[in-house]
Amino acid sequence: VGLVGAGGIAGVHAAAWQTIGADTTVWSEAGAPELAARFGLARAGSFDELVAGVDVLDICTPTPSHVGYLLRGIEAGRHVVCEKPITRTVAEARLVHAAARAHGVAVYPGHVVRYFPEYAALADAVTAGRIGTPAVLRFTRAGQAPASDWFFDHAQSGGLVLDQMVHDLDQARWLAGEVVEVFAAQNPPVSAGAVPRSVVAHVVLTHRSGALSMVQGVWGPPGSEFTTSFDVSGSAGRLQYDSRLHRDLAVDLAVELVGPGTPSYLPTTAGTDPYTAQLRDFAAAFAGGPPPRVSLADGAIAVALAEAADESARTGRPVAVDESAVLDSAGLDPAGAAR
Ligand SMILES: NC(=O)c1ccc[n+]([C@@H]2O[C@H](COP(=O)([O-])OP(=O)(O)OC[C@H]3O[C@@H](n4cnc5c(N)ncnc54)[C@H](O)[C@@H]3O)[C@@H](O)[C@H]2O)c1
Repeated sequence: VGLVGAGGIAGVHAAAWQTIGADTTVWSEAGAPELAARFGLARAGSFDELVAGVDVLDICTPTPSHVGYLLRGIEAGRHVVCEKPITRTVAEARLVHAAARAHGVAVYPGHVVRYFPEYAALADAVTAGRIGTPAVLRFTRAGQAPASDWFFDHAQSGGLVLDQMVHDLDQARWLAGEVVEVFAAQNPPVSAGAVPRSVVAHVVLTHRSGALSMVQGVWGPPGSEFTTSFDVSGSAGRLQYDSRLHRDLAVDLAVELVGPGTPSYLPTTAGTDPYTAQLRDFAAAFAGGPPPRVSLADGAIAVALAEAADESARTGRPVAVDESAVLDSAGLDPAGAAR
């Protein structure tokens, strides 16, 4: 695996690839020596050298650089994992999709929330009909704003909606299917291209089925607790999760019985870490296994939903979405489309 980038999320991917047992090489504009030392990774001297020596590229760089590295990796015939959002714009996602088809390689976006156990259990329950027909879906995601400056330049990151809320926009569509309209509000708004460092946004998705999803995202000041929740109701039941209430029992037990900072005597949970589960799913697909839980088309449509939400927040009006027009419909992967 060739890891591109050596910042916050690259470290998480490096640890996951190590758990999987992948032979990993890193190249980055900055930070590669430190990351390589931390995880015992090999280093490449340039992007081209990295590509030449690997089977799979894993792109963990700032969002605006995704499209360039994706296209160069695809054109070199490499399968690619790329962090969400797959690209900064839908137009770029179209280019990536066309290139992947032309070169016969697979590209998967890092919509890791699909691999968090609580969210995966929700999706399984909804698919099994446990709540009947989904009707009203609520998702929240809040935490301190990210560290690097590029996140606060809307042209680069797409702001809170594309960078953070894209996770739950994808969740909503995964559970309740195709989206036909988006309405959004953000406070404070993006001003002269600058994304506020403390900001809240609300996005309402109307699904083709008639179901409504309400997604709230928050970037708060340093030290803000990271929390997520969902509350999903249907014709036959309701499922709720709140990270503030439903703590991981094994972790609490270990801290309680052994003491903070002491290595746990409990079995390692690395095998169920969502980032590892995600990369394992992608690696199996690259090796000829079944398609993973998320497709390039899902990633492209998530970007389209975020673009529509941005337009709605800017204009104050609902924005119609035509999912089949995001990519040419022949390219939509039924296995990866909405459940
Ligand atoms: N799935 C998740 O949970 C999750 C979490 C955080 C970030 N992300 C996504 O991952 C991507 C990276 O975010 P991050 O928080 O790691 O950013 P970061 O700023 O912490 O790190 C970026 C890294 O890329 C390097 N870099 C910057 N520009 C480059 C370029 N043009 N070419 C090569 N290397 C370059 C930097 O030196 C740095 O090592 C973003 O798209 C972000 O949205 C996903």
